Amino acid sequence: LLYPLLAGVAGYLLGSLSFAVIVSRVMGLSDPRSYGSGNPGATNVLRSGNKKAALLTLLFDALKGYVPVLLVLLYGERFGLGEDSAAFVGLAAFLGHLWPVFFRFEGGKGVATAAGVLLAINPLLGGATLLTWLIIAYFSRYSSLAAIVAAVFAPFYQMLIWGASPTVLYVALMGLLLVWRHEANIRKLLNGTESKLGQKSGSAT
Ligand code: G3P
Repeated sequence: LLYPLLAGVAGYLLGSLSFAVIVSRVMGLSDPRSYGSGNPGATNVLRSGNKKAALLTLLFDALKGYVPVLLVLLYGERFGLGEDSAAFVGLAAFLGHLWPVFFRFEGGKGVATAAGVLLAINPLLGGATLLTWLIIAYFSRYSSLAAIVAAVFAPFYQMLIWGASPTVLYVALMGLLLVWRHEANIRKLLNGTESKLGQKSGSAT
């Protein structure tokens, strides 16, 4: 139990690095928590108009989910950590993004980090989920709607590929939390005020 716990804490700390805030600060841009949806995530950084900053945020927020899972898959065996532990560490990184210890526990919605986690658990799982996101985002232009739909599908994809396992549960829990974090987006989607991808409007909530 010690090793999964230690790995979980490490994953959580890594996930706590809010790259929307860090990248914006390094690039001399305003804090993403002060404009648009107020969310520290790639979608909101894109609202600043700086595509490079948004892309870097997406990349690093995804990597902080991807890398710890991959490390456990590669080197976990000697510590008794298997595939389910890898998914657990991914969940921990995801929780870090939502409630970052370094940012007063005010984090993001976990979309990029979840994508990184799923890609590392299984490229097929990550690929299918990303494709779901892309299809919904392409047709609707809503980043939030795409993430919600993809998050709902992800545990089913995992179940289809691997069958029932604790990993399915961790993926489902990530999906549930992700949808819950999109509460404001869901309300805006329903009343038609959600801003579309790249759109600069949208008031801070
Ligand atoms: O990445 C989060 C996205 O799904 C919604 O972000 O800024 O539109 O609330 P935002």
